[in-house]
Amino acid sequence: MDTGRSSSNHNESDVTMSETQRPHWGSKMGFILAAAGSAIGLGNIWRFPYITQQNGGGIFVIVYLLAVLFIGLPVMLGEITIGRHTQRNPVGAYGRIAPGWRFVGALGIISGLGILSYYSVVAGWTIGYAVKSIGGSLDPNGFGAFLGDWRQQIGYLAAFSLLTSFVVASGVQAGIERMARVLMPLLFLLMLGLIIRGLTLPTAGAGLKFYLMPDVDKLTTKTFLFAVGQAFFSLSLGMGAMLTYGAYLKKEDNLVTCAVAVVALDTLIALMAGFLIFPVIGHGLHKGGPSLVFVTMIAQFSHMTGGTVTAILFFVLLALAALTSTVSLMEVFISYLIDEWHMRRLSAVVLTGTLSFALGVPSALSLGAVPSLTHIIHGKGFLDIFDFAFGNLALTLGGLLMCIVLIYRWGFRHAADEVLGSSPKFRPFAQTWKILLQYVAPVAIAGLLIYCLVTGTGLS
Ligand code: PHE
Repeated sequence: MDTGRSSSNHNESDVTMSETQRPHWGSKMGFILAAAGSAIGLGNIWRFPYITQQNGGGIFVIVYLLAVLFIGLPVMLGEITIGRHTQRNPVGAYGRIAPGWRFVGALGIISGLGILSYYSVVAGWTIGYAVKSIGGSLDPNGFGAFLGDWRQQIGYLAAFSLLTSFVVASGVQAGIERMARVLMPLLFLLMLGLIIRGLTLPTAGAGLKFYLMPDVDKLTTKTFLFAVGQAFFSLSLGMGAMLTYGAYLKKEDNLVTCAVAVVALDTLIALMAGFLIFPVIGHGLHKGGPSLVFVTMIAQFSHMTGGTVTAILFFVLLALAALTSTVSLMEVFISYLIDEWHMRRLSAVVLTGTLSFALGVPSALSLGAVPSLTHIIHGKGFLDIFDFAFGNLALTLGGLLMCIVLIYRWGFRHAADEVLGSSPKFRPFAQTWKILLQYVAPVAIAGLLIYCLVTGTGLS
Protein backbone atom coordinates (compact mmCIF):
# COMPACT_ATOMS: atom_id res chain seq x y z
CA MET A 1 0.00 0.00 0.00
CA ASP A 2 2.84 2.28 0.91
CA THR A 3 4.46 1.63 -2.40
CA GLY A 4 1.21 2.53 -4.15
CA ARG A 5 0.98 5.85 -2.34
CA SER A 6 4.56 6.81 -2.93
CA SER A 7 4.30 6.02 -6.62
CA SER A 8 1.14 8.08 -6.95
CA ASN A 9 2.83 10.94 -5.10
CA HIS A 10 5.70 10.66 -7.49
CA ASN A 11 3.33 10.90 -10.44
CA GLU A 12 1.58 13.92 -9.04
CA SER A 13 4.73 15.87 -8.42
CA ASP A 14 5.90 14.88 -11.88
CA VAL A 15 2.76 16.37 -13.42
CA THR A 16 2.88 19.55 -11.38
CA MET A 17 6.50 20.11 -12.16
CA SER A 18 6.23 19.67 -15.89
CA GLU A 19 3.00 21.63 -16.01
CA THR A 20 4.48 24.68 -14.34
CA GLN A 21 7.47 24.51 -16.66
CA ARG A 22 5.34 24.00 -19.73
CA PRO A 23 5.10 27.01 -22.03
CA HIS A 24 1.65 28.47 -22.69
CA TRP A 25 0.23 30.94 -25.16
CA GLY A 26 0.09 34.50 -23.91
CA SER A 27 -3.65 34.57 -24.64
CA LYS A 28 -6.40 32.67 -26.43
CA MET A 29 -5.93 35.06 -29.34
CA GLY A 30 -2.28 34.01 -29.49
CA PHE A 31 -3.38 30.41 -29.92
CA ILE A 32 -5.98 31.28 -32.54
CA LEU A 33 -3.47 33.23 -34.63
CA ALA A 34 -0.76 30.58 -34.33
CA ALA A 35 -3.15 27.70 -35.08
CA ALA A 36 -4.69 29.64 -37.98
CA GLY A 37 -1.11 30.26 -39.12
CA SER A 38 -0.52 26.52 -39.10
CA ALA A 39 -3.71 25.82 -41.02
CA ILE A 40 -3.32 28.65 -43.51
CA GLY A 41 -0.51 27.84 -45.87
CA LEU A 42 0.37 26.48 -49.26
CA GLY A 43 -2.61 24.18 -48.78
CA ASN A 44 -4.91 27.18 -49.08
CA ILE A 45 -3.20 29.36 -51.63
CA TRP A 46 -1.38 26.82 -53.81
CA ARG A 47 -3.25 23.52 -53.39
CA PHE A 48 -6.90 24.56 -52.89
CA PRO A 49 -7.20 26.53 -56.15
CA TYR A 50 -5.68 23.81 -58.34
CA ILE A 51 -7.58 20.99 -56.65
CA THR A 52 -10.76 23.03 -57.14
CA GLN A 53 -9.82 23.57 -60.76
CA GLN A 54 -9.17 19.85 -61.33
CA ASN A 55 -12.38 18.80 -59.62
CA GLY A 56 -14.99 20.85 -61.35
CA GLY A 57 -14.79 24.35 -59.82
CA GLY A 58 -17.90 25.56 -57.97
CA ILE A 59 -19.28 22.13 -57.17
CA PHE A 60 -16.03 21.17 -55.48
CA VAL A 61 -16.17 24.31 -53.37
CA ILE A 62 -19.59 23.32 -52.03
CA VAL A 63 -18.52 19.76 -51.19
CA TYR A 64 -15.34 21.09 -49.58
CA LEU A 65 -17.35 23.39 -47.32
CA LEU A 66 -19.51 20.44 -46.23
CA ALA A 67 -16.39 18.36 -45.50
CA VAL A 68 -14.94 21.18 -43.40
CA LEU A 69 -18.13 21.62 -41.41
CA PHE A 70 -19.04 17.98 -40.77
CA ILE A 71 -15.60 16.36 -40.57
CA GLY A 72 -12.95 19.05 -40.20
CA LEU A 73 -14.57 20.99 -37.37
CA PRO A 74 -15.39 18.01 -35.10
CA VAL A 75 -11.93 16.50 -35.64
CA MET A 76 -10.31 19.88 -34.94
CA LEU A 77 -12.19 20.17 -31.63
CA GLY A 78 -11.23 16.58 -30.79
CA GLU A 79 -7.52 17.17 -31.36
CA ILE A 80 -7.39 20.45 -29.44
CA THR A 81 -9.32 18.82 -26.59
CA ILE A 82 -6.88 15.90 -26.30
CA GLY A 83 -3.97 18.35 -26.38
CA ARG A 84 -5.35 20.69 -23.72
CA HIS A 85 -6.38 17.82 -21.46
CA THR A 86 -3.03 16.05 -21.54
CA GLN A 87 -0.71 19.08 -21.91
CA ARG A 88 1.56 16.78 -23.88
CA ASN A 89 3.07 16.16 -27.30
CA PRO A 90 1.09 13.69 -29.48
CA VAL A 91 2.98 10.56 -28.33
CA GLY A 92 2.67 11.42 -24.64
CA ALA A 93 -0.92 12.60 -25.11
CA TYR A 94 -2.21 9.37 -26.63
CA GLY A 95 -0.24 7.39 -24.04
CA ARG A 96 -2.10 9.28 -21.31
CA ILE A 97 -5.65 8.96 -22.56
CA ALA A 98 -5.27 5.44 -23.96
CA PRO A 99 -2.27 3.42 -22.81
CA GLY A 100 -1.17 1.19 -25.68
CA TRP A 101 -2.16 3.78 -28.30
CA ARG A 102 1.02 5.85 -28.25
CA PHE A 103 1.65 4.67 -31.80
CA VAL A 104 -1.11 7.02 -33.01
CA GLY A 105 1.00 9.92 -31.77
CA ALA A 106 4.13 8.34 -33.21
CA LEU A 107 2.46 8.04 -36.60
CA GLY A 108 1.59 11.73 -36.28
CA ILE A 109 5.06 13.00 -35.48
CA ILE A 110 6.62 10.87 -38.23
CA SER A 111 4.08 12.17 -40.74
CA GLY A 112 4.80 15.70 -39.53
CA LEU A 113 8.48 15.28 -40.26
CA GLY A 114 7.69 13.74 -43.65
CA ILE A 115 5.37 16.63 -44.57
CA LEU A 116 7.84 19.21 -43.26
CA SER A 117 10.57 17.81 -45.52
CA TYR A 118 8.78 18.19 -48.85
CA TYR A 119 6.63 21.16 -47.81
CA SER A 120 9.86 23.09 -47.18
CA VAL A 121 10.92 22.34 -50.76
CA VAL A 122 7.76 23.93 -52.20
CA ALA A 123 8.01 26.72 -49.63
CA GLY A 124 11.58 27.27 -50.87
CA TRP A 125 10.23 27.86 -54.39
CA THR A 126 8.15 30.72 -53.05
CA ILE A 127 11.27 32.47 -51.75
CA GLY A 128 13.01 31.68 -55.02
CA TYR A 129 10.19 33.27 -56.98
CA ALA A 130 9.99 36.24 -54.63
CA VAL A 131 13.72 36.81 -55.25
CA LYS A 132 13.28 36.39 -59.00
CA SER A 133 10.37 38.83 -59.10
CA ILE A 134 12.36 41.39 -57.13
CA GLY A 135 15.20 40.94 -59.65
CA GLY A 136 12.66 41.37 -62.45
CA SER A 137 13.61 37.99 -63.97
CA LEU A 138 10.31 36.13 -63.79
CA ASP A 139 9.73 33.90 -66.77
CA PRO A 140 6.66 31.65 -67.08
CA ASN A 141 8.72 29.19 -69.13
CA GLY A 142 11.50 29.06 -66.58
CA PHE A 143 9.77 26.78 -64.05
CA GLY A 144 11.13 23.53 -65.51
CA ALA A 145 14.68 24.83 -65.55
CA PHE A 146 14.28 26.13 -61.99
CA LEU A 147 13.10 22.74 -60.77
CA GLY A 148 15.98 21.01 -62.52
CA ASP A 149 18.66 23.26 -61.03
CA TRP A 150 19.95 21.39 -57.99
CA ARG A 151 21.80 24.39 -56.57
CA GLN A 152 18.68 26.52 -56.38
CA GLN A 153 16.53 23.63 -55.13
CA ILE A 154 18.88 22.73 -52.30
CA GLY A 155 19.74 26.35 -51.56
CA TYR A 156 16.14 27.47 -51.13
CA LEU A 157 15.29 24.33 -49.15
CA ALA A 158 18.17 25.13 -46.80
CA ALA A 159 17.09 28.76 -46.53
CA PHE A 160 13.53 27.83 -45.63
CA SER A 161 14.63 25.18 -43.14
CA LEU A 162 16.84 27.75 -41.43
CA LEU A 163 14.04 30.30 -41.30
CA THR A 164 11.67 27.77 -39.73
CA SER A 165 14.30 26.62 -37.24
CA PHE A 166 15.00 30.19 -36.23
CA VAL A 167 11.36 30.91 -35.31
CA VAL A 168 10.87 27.60 -33.50
CA ALA A 169 14.12 28.02 -31.56
CA SER A 170 12.79 31.27 -30.08
CA GLY A 171 10.03 29.36 -28.29
CA VAL A 172 6.27 29.20 -28.12
CA GLN A 173 5.48 32.76 -27.01
CA ALA A 174 8.54 34.70 -28.15
CA GLY A 175 8.86 32.85 -31.47
CA ILE A 176 5.68 31.24 -32.74
CA GLU A 177 3.07 33.49 -31.13
CA ARG A 178 4.93 36.73 -31.86
CA MET A 179 5.50 35.76 -35.48
CA ALA A 180 1.83 34.84 -35.95
CA ARG A 181 0.66 38.13 -34.42
CA VAL A 182 2.61 40.09 -37.02
CA LEU A 183 2.35 37.84 -40.05
CA MET A 184 -1.30 36.82 -40.00
CA PRO A 185 -2.78 40.35 -40.25
CA LEU A 186 -0.13 41.21 -42.85
CA LEU A 187 -1.07 38.17 -44.87
CA PHE A 188 -4.73 39.13 -44.76
CA LEU A 189 -4.05 42.66 -45.96
CA LEU A 190 -1.72 41.51 -48.74
CA MET A 191 -4.35 39.11 -49.92
CA LEU A 192 -7.09 41.69 -49.90
CA GLY A 193 -4.95 44.05 -51.99
CA LEU A 194 -4.14 41.32 -54.50
CA ILE A 195 -7.79 40.28 -54.79
CA ILE A 196 -8.86 43.83 -55.54
CA ARG A 197 -6.15 44.11 -58.19
CA GLY A 198 -7.23 40.81 -59.77
CA LEU A 199 -10.91 41.71 -59.88
CA THR A 200 -10.17 44.71 -62.07
CA LEU A 201 -8.61 42.54 -64.80
CA PRO A 202 -10.51 41.69 -68.00
CA THR A 203 -10.07 37.99 -67.24
CA ALA A 204 -11.97 38.28 -63.93
CA GLY A 205 -15.46 37.44 -65.25
CA ALA A 206 -14.51 34.11 -66.81
CA GLY A 207 -12.50 33.04 -63.77
CA LEU A 208 -15.22 33.93 -61.28
CA LYS A 209 -17.84 32.10 -63.30
CA PHE A 210 -15.82 28.88 -63.17
CA TYR A 211 -15.14 29.32 -59.48
CA LEU A 212 -18.65 30.17 -58.36
CA MET A 213 -21.07 28.39 -60.70
CA PRO A 214 -21.61 24.83 -59.49
CA ASP A 215 -22.00 22.31 -62.29
CA VAL A 216 -23.72 19.26 -60.79
CA ASP A 217 -22.66 17.05 -63.72
CA LYS A 218 -19.11 17.27 -62.48
CA LEU A 219 -19.99 15.70 -59.13
CA THR A 220 -18.38 12.25 -58.69
CA THR A 221 -17.20 10.09 -55.78
CA LYS A 222 -13.78 11.54 -56.37
CA THR A 223 -15.10 15.03 -55.61
CA PHE A 224 -16.04 13.93 -52.09
CA LEU A 225 -12.80 12.09 -51.50
CA PHE A 226 -10.64 14.94 -52.67
CA ALA A 227 -12.65 17.36 -50.56
CA VAL A 228 -12.06 15.36 -47.36
CA GLY A 229 -8.34 14.96 -48.12
CA GLN A 230 -7.98 18.66 -48.81
CA ALA A 231 -9.87 19.54 -45.62
CA PHE A 232 -7.46 17.45 -43.51
CA PHE A 233 -4.39 18.89 -45.16
CA SER A 234 -5.61 22.45 -45.09
CA LEU A 235 -6.77 22.35 -41.47
CA SER A 236 -3.48 20.69 -40.35
CA LEU A 237 -5.42 17.73 -38.94
CA GLY A 238 -4.51 14.11 -38.44
CA MET A 239 -0.86 14.43 -37.41
CA GLY A 240 -1.01 16.16 -34.09
CA ALA A 241 -0.21 19.77 -35.03
CA MET A 242 -3.47 21.03 -33.52
CA LEU A 243 -3.05 18.66 -30.60
CA THR A 244 0.41 20.09 -29.92
CA TYR A 245 -0.80 23.70 -30.13
CA GLY A 246 -3.82 22.76 -28.00
CA ALA A 247 -1.42 21.45 -25.36
CA TYR A 248 -0.17 25.04 -24.83
CA LEU A 249 -3.71 26.23 -23.98
CA LYS A 250 -4.70 27.01 -20.42
CA LYS A 251 -7.57 25.34 -18.60
CA GLU A 252 -9.76 28.44 -18.78
CA ASP A 253 -9.49 28.92 -22.55
CA ASN A 254 -12.71 28.19 -24.40
CA LEU A 255 -11.94 25.28 -26.74
CA VAL A 256 -15.04 25.67 -28.88
CA THR A 257 -14.33 29.28 -29.81
CA CYS A 258 -10.75 28.28 -30.55
CA ALA A 259 -11.75 25.43 -32.89
CA VAL A 260 -14.46 27.44 -34.64
CA ALA A 261 -12.20 30.47 -35.12
CA VAL A 262 -9.34 28.43 -36.60
CA VAL A 263 -11.63 26.51 -38.98
CA ALA A 264 -13.42 29.71 -40.02
CA LEU A 265 -10.19 31.62 -40.69
CA ASP A 266 -8.65 28.78 -42.67
CA THR A 267 -11.77 28.40 -44.79
CA LEU A 268 -12.05 32.14 -45.33
CA ILE A 269 -8.47 32.29 -46.60
CA ALA A 270 -8.96 29.27 -48.89
CA LEU A 271 -12.07 30.90 -50.38
CA MET A 272 -10.19 34.19 -50.71
CA ALA A 273 -7.35 32.37 -52.49
CA GLY A 274 -9.92 31.32 -55.10
CA PHE A 275 -10.99 34.95 -55.48
CA LEU A 276 -7.33 35.87 -55.88
CA ILE A 277 -6.28 33.18 -58.38
CA PHE A 278 -9.28 32.51 -60.64
CA PRO A 279 -9.90 36.11 -61.77
CA VAL A 280 -6.23 36.43 -62.73
CA ILE A 281 -6.24 33.14 -64.61
CA GLY A 282 -9.55 33.62 -66.39
CA HIS A 283 -9.60 31.34 -69.41
CA GLY A 284 -6.11 29.99 -68.80
CA LEU A 285 -7.58 27.21 -66.67
CA HIS A 286 -6.39 24.38 -68.88
CA LYS A 287 -2.79 25.06 -67.85
CA GLY A 288 -3.42 24.18 -64.24
CA GLY A 289 -2.32 21.55 -61.77
CA PRO A 290 0.44 22.05 -59.24
CA SER A 291 2.13 24.53 -61.57
CA LEU A 292 -0.97 26.77 -61.56
CA VAL A 293 0.67 29.28 -59.26
CA PHE A 294 4.20 29.09 -60.60
CA VAL A 295 3.50 29.04 -64.33
CA THR A 296 -0.01 30.29 -65.13
CA MET A 297 -0.02 33.11 -62.58
CA ILE A 298 3.37 34.32 -63.77
CA ALA A 299 2.24 34.31 -67.38
CA GLN A 300 -0.66 36.53 -66.33
CA PHE A 301 1.49 38.81 -64.17
CA SER A 302 3.81 39.42 -67.11
CA HIS A 303 0.90 40.84 -69.14
CA MET A 304 -0.59 43.15 -66.56
CA THR A 305 0.31 46.68 -65.55
CA GLY A 306 2.03 46.70 -62.18
CA GLY A 307 2.71 42.99 -62.74
CA THR A 308 6.14 43.00 -61.13
CA VAL A 309 4.97 44.56 -57.87
CA THR A 310 1.96 42.25 -57.81
CA ALA A 311 4.22 39.24 -58.37
CA ILE A 312 6.58 40.29 -55.57
CA LEU A 313 3.69 40.73 -53.14
CA PHE A 314 2.12 37.46 -54.23
CA PHE A 315 5.23 35.36 -53.63
CA VAL A 316 6.04 37.10 -50.35
CA LEU A 317 2.47 36.27 -49.31
CA LEU A 318 2.96 32.62 -50.20
CA ALA A 319 6.28 32.47 -48.36
CA LEU A 320 4.80 33.97 -45.18
CA ALA A 321 1.81 31.65 -45.26
CA ALA A 322 4.14 28.68 -45.71
CA LEU A 323 6.39 29.77 -42.84
CA THR A 324 3.63 29.79 -40.23
CA SER A 325 2.79 26.24 -41.36
CA THR A 326 6.34 24.82 -41.38
CA VAL A 327 6.80 26.26 -37.90
CA SER A 328 3.86 24.20 -36.64
CA LEU A 329 5.07 21.10 -38.43
CA MET A 330 8.45 21.44 -36.77
CA GLU A 331 7.00 22.25 -33.34
CA VAL A 332 5.22 18.87 -33.21
CA PHE A 333 8.52 16.99 -33.33
CA ILE A 334 10.20 19.50 -31.03
CA SER A 335 7.54 19.15 -28.35
CA TYR A 336 8.01 15.37 -28.55
CA LEU A 337 11.78 15.64 -28.07
CA ILE A 338 11.39 18.10 -25.20
CA ASP A 339 8.64 16.16 -23.35
CA GLU A 340 9.77 12.61 -23.92
CA TRP A 341 13.54 12.91 -24.24
CA HIS A 342 14.01 15.99 -22.03
CA MET A 343 16.03 17.72 -24.73
CA ARG A 344 16.72 21.44 -24.64
CA ARG A 345 14.69 23.39 -27.19
CA LEU A 346 17.75 24.52 -29.09
CA SER A 347 19.26 21.04 -29.39
CA ALA A 348 15.85 19.69 -30.44
CA VAL A 349 15.62 22.37 -33.15
CA VAL A 350 19.11 21.63 -34.47
CA LEU A 351 18.31 17.91 -34.63
CA THR A 352 14.89 18.33 -36.24
CA GLY A 353 16.04 20.99 -38.68
CA THR A 354 18.91 18.79 -39.85
CA LEU A 355 16.68 15.72 -40.13
CA SER A 356 13.98 17.47 -42.11
CA PHE A 357 16.53 19.13 -44.40
CA ALA A 358 18.21 15.77 -45.08
CA LEU A 359 14.84 14.13 -45.73
CA GLY A 360 13.89 17.04 -48.02
CA VAL A 361 16.96 16.68 -50.25
CA PRO A 362 15.61 13.73 -52.31
CA SER A 363 12.32 15.64 -52.79
CA ALA A 364 14.20 18.76 -53.87
CA LEU A 365 16.16 16.73 -56.41
CA SER A 366 13.16 14.75 -57.64
CA LEU A 367 11.79 17.41 -59.96
CA GLY A 368 14.38 17.22 -62.66
CA ALA A 369 17.82 17.52 -61.09
CA VAL A 370 18.30 13.78 -60.56
CA PRO A 371 16.43 11.74 -63.20
CA SER A 372 16.29 8.53 -61.14
CA LEU A 373 14.26 10.36 -58.47
CA THR A 374 11.67 11.77 -60.87
CA HIS A 375 9.95 8.48 -61.70
CA ILE A 376 9.95 6.06 -58.82
CA ILE A 377 6.55 4.37 -58.76
CA HIS A 378 3.92 4.78 -61.51
CA GLY A 379 5.69 7.79 -62.94
CA LYS A 380 5.60 9.56 -59.59
CA GLY A 381 8.67 11.28 -58.23
CA PHE A 382 9.97 11.30 -54.68
CA LEU A 383 8.14 14.49 -53.67
CA ASP A 384 4.82 13.21 -55.04
CA ILE A 385 5.25 9.94 -53.19
CA PHE A 386 5.95 11.73 -49.90
CA ASP A 387 2.92 13.95 -50.47
CA PHE A 388 0.76 10.91 -51.13
CA ALA A 389 2.07 8.85 -48.22
CA PHE A 390 2.28 11.57 -45.57
CA GLY A 391 0.11 14.43 -46.81
CA ASN A 392 -2.82 12.16 -47.74
CA LEU A 393 -2.76 8.62 -46.39
CA ALA A 394 -1.11 9.27 -43.02
CA LEU A 395 -3.22 12.35 -42.23
CA THR A 396 -6.52 10.67 -42.95
CA LEU A 397 -5.45 7.51 -41.12
CA GLY A 398 -4.35 9.65 -38.17
CA GLY A 399 -7.76 11.37 -38.16
CA LEU A 400 -9.58 8.04 -38.20
CA LEU A 401 -7.48 6.69 -35.33
CA MET A 402 -8.05 9.89 -33.35
CA CYS A 403 -11.83 9.40 -33.61
CA ILE A 404 -11.53 5.74 -32.54
CA VAL A 405 -9.29 6.51 -29.56
CA LEU A 406 -11.41 9.43 -28.41
CA ILE A 407 -14.71 7.56 -28.59
CA TYR A 408 -13.76 3.99 -27.67
CA ARG A 409 -10.61 4.20 -25.55
CA TRP A 410 -10.65 7.53 -23.74
CA GLY A 411 -14.44 7.75 -23.76
CA PHE A 412 -16.56 10.57 -25.16
CA ARG A 413 -17.65 11.59 -21.64
CA HIS A 414 -14.10 12.62 -20.74
CA ALA A 415 -13.66 14.64 -23.91
CA ALA A 416 -17.01 16.35 -23.39
CA ASP A 417 -16.10 17.17 -19.76
CA GLU A 418 -12.84 18.77 -20.92
CA VAL A 419 -14.70 20.95 -23.42
CA LEU A 420 -17.61 21.81 -21.12
CA GLY A 421 -15.22 22.81 -18.34
CA SER A 422 -14.36 26.00 -20.22
CA SER A 423 -17.37 26.26 -22.56
CA PRO A 424 -20.58 25.32 -20.68
CA LYS A 425 -22.70 26.73 -23.52
CA PHE A 426 -21.54 23.81 -25.68
CA ARG A 427 -23.81 21.35 -23.81
CA PRO A 428 -26.68 21.31 -26.37
CA PHE A 429 -24.21 20.56 -29.17
CA ALA A 430 -22.27 17.79 -27.42
CA GLN A 431 -24.44 14.99 -28.79
CA THR A 432 -24.05 16.22 -32.37
CA TRP A 433 -20.28 16.34 -31.85
CA LYS A 434 -20.37 12.75 -30.67
CA ILE A 435 -22.34 11.54 -33.71
CA LEU A 436 -19.96 13.33 -36.07
CA LEU A 437 -16.90 11.80 -34.38
CA GLN A 438 -18.35 8.34 -33.95
CA TYR A 439 -20.02 7.84 -37.34
CA VAL A 440 -19.78 10.62 -39.91
CA ALA A 441 -16.03 11.34 -39.83
CA PRO A 442 -14.81 7.71 -39.52
CA VAL A 443 -17.05 6.42 -42.31
CA ALA A 444 -16.04 9.22 -44.66
CA ILE A 445 -12.35 8.80 -43.83
CA ALA A 446 -12.44 5.01 -44.15
CA GLY A 447 -14.06 5.47 -47.58
CA LEU A 448 -11.29 7.83 -48.58
CA LEU A 449 -8.55 5.47 -47.41
CA ILE A 450 -10.02 2.44 -49.13
CA TYR A 451 -10.37 4.43 -52.32
CA CYS A 452 -6.75 5.58 -52.14
CA LEU A 453 -5.45 2.10 -51.48
CA VAL A 454 -7.53 0.44 -54.15
CA THR A 455 -6.86 2.97 -56.89
CA GLY A 456 -3.37 3.94 -55.73
CA THR A 457 -4.03 7.56 -56.62
CA GLY A 458 -2.65 10.42 -54.59
CA LEU A 459 -4.95 13.27 -53.80
CA SER A 460 -2.72 16.05 -54.95
N1 PHE B 1 -2.33 23.24 -43.23
C1 PHE B 1 -1.11 23.54 -43.90
C2 PHE B 1 -1.45 24.21 -45.22
O1 PHE B 1 -2.59 24.38 -45.54
C3 PHE B 1 -0.25 22.33 -44.12
C4 PHE B 1 -0.07 21.50 -42.89
C5 PHE B 1 -0.52 20.19 -42.86
C6 PHE B 1 0.51 22.06 -41.75
C7 PHE B 1 -0.41 19.43 -41.71
C8 PHE B 1 0.63 21.31 -40.58
C9 PHE B 1 0.16 20.00 -40.57
O2 PHE B 1 -0.59 24.57 -45.95
